[in-house]
Amino acid sequence: MDTWHKIVFGNCRDMHEIPSNSIHLMVTSPPYYNAPFDYPGFFKDYEQFLQLIGDFSRELSRVLAPGRIAAYVTDDMLVEGKKYPVVADVTRIMIENGFRYRDKIVWVKPKGYSRISRRSGVVLQNPYPMYFYPDNIQESILIFQKGTFDYGYARKLDRKIRVDSRIDTKEYNEHEWYLTVWRITNVLPLPRRPEIGIAAFPDEIPRRLIKLFSYVGETVLDPFLGSGTTMKVAKELGRNCWGYEIDLELRPVILKKIGYKQPASSKAESVEIVRRNDAGRFRSSLQKRVSSKKSVTKGRLGFHQPN
Ligand SMILES: C[S@@+](CC[C@H](N)C(=O)[O-])C[C@H]1O[C@@H](n2cnc3c(N)ncnc32)[C@H](O)[C@@H]1O
Repeated sequence: MDTWHKIVFGNCRDMHEIPSNSIHLMVTSPPYYNAPFDYPGFFKDYEQFLQLIGDFSRELSRVLAPGRIAAYVTDDMLVEGKKYPVVADVTRIMIENGFRYRDKIVWVKPKGYSRISRRSGVVLQNPYPMYFYPDNIQESILIFQKGTFDYGYARKLDRKIRVDSRIDTKEYNEHEWYLTVWRITNVLPLPRRPEIGIAAFPDEIPRRLIKLFSYVGETVLDPFLGSGTTMKVAKELGRNCWGYEIDLELRPVILKKIGYKQPASSKAESVEIVRRNDAGRFRSSLQKRVSSKKSVTKGRLGFHQPN
């Protein structure tokens, strides 16, 4: 099936390019607040991060079609010894903006994986009470819905669309998609991977969500596109996709990931790119900051994302 893909380099708190009620599914992972390994000092403070999620959610309620799903992959974040309750705050903000909280799936990564540091070793050095800090190997996949879905719409879809969108129940059972715990290997931290500093999720997450919550030919949105994983998978699964990304430096990574060739060889590869004035350049400065391991405090970085 011919699909189209539109990438807007700009801030997703304004998605005026997207017509109201035209998105059938959102799959995204917002920046992990000021995560030490990817986004140190990206936000001025936690309030600015929450403000972005709030502004974005209001825009999302305009563009998402009635009855459809919005899925966030996110996690609470430990920054300079303080744990920020991102999962609870995103849930609260979405509910305040009129979405129904439908489900939470826990994405469990392999046991040896730890993004920040192995805190659990503290007990080995001090095997006494009060020295326990667990290693984190999970994230949350938060699932919200805009009202209720009209199943009459699904029943009236073209037969071919229904056949092509059918969920493989063997895979569903064998890989335990039906549980609230999904065991999926994360993007491996290989030294020259294109996703360095982007905190990309593995293809398998958008693949499951797109298959479970959208039909072939429908339109998926990733407002925090990053390396373009959602768009790549949407394309493979015959869905259209809108992606917003604030960082212009990610353009080559995204285009490579979605296999963009210019000029498009067929209508089946239709890709449109818009560059807005509210995009910026962040990745190199963030990565420099990460590698120099300077302590990052409010006001010192000079490249906070704009309000
Ligand atoms: C966690 S990453 C997304 C990774 C993506 N899921 C992938 O697999 O590559 C979050 C992305 O959101 C982008 N971003 C941050 N603030 C934004 C904003 N206000 N509007 C659009 N994109 C934003 C960041 O530059 C970053 O690339």
